[in-house]
Amino acid sequence: MLVRLLYVSQSVGPITTTVTASVLEKSNANNKKQNITGILCQGSGLWMQVLEGERNQVNTLYSQIMADRHHQNVQLLSIEEITSRRFGQWSMALVYLSKDDPMVQMSHPEFDPYSGSAKDVMSLLEELIQSSTPIVTMVAI
Ligand SMILES: Cc1cc2nc3c(=O)[nH]c(=O)nc-3n(C[C@H](O)[C@H](O)[C@H](O)COP(=O)(O)O)c2cc1C
Repeated sequence: MLVRLLYVSQSVGPITTTVTASVLEKSNANNKKQNITGILCQGSGLWMQVLEGERNQVNTLYSQIMADRHHQNVQLLSIEEITSRRFGQWSMALVYLSKDDPMVQMSHPEFDPYSGSAKDVMSLLEELIQSSTPIVTMVAI
């Protein structure tokens, strides 16, 4: 049973390159083993992440991520059963969110992942991954 999970969280402290590197390193190692793919979007003190994979594995990873002290106010936006992956090329792709980005302002002027619909957040992530080059320290599966 494949699922896609989307959540949003607030970083505790600034999202430094060291924090990002550590998250990506863990993701790269663990997600490959668990056959989990996805996208991590960060910026403006927020993280939004999509995790795709077998339901058991996604739930286990999500529990671990929720307990991570690098962030707080982790809120589940959606979990859905899927038949195919959207971010299947990446064990974890990284994209950046800037609320000042004209694309974000034009397409999502009211952008607030905590009160917006999961669908809108998901389309923003898809737009970001199409318009930016994901940082591919994350390697293809
Ligand atoms: C925003 C955020 C996203 C994360 N995403 C992942 C992930 O996709 N995969 C992963 O294994 N760990 C991820 N982590 C790290 C986990 O919370 C946790 O530190 C890690 O799973 C522990 O791995 P370890 O036991 O191998 O050290 C993330 C952490 C944060 C703060």
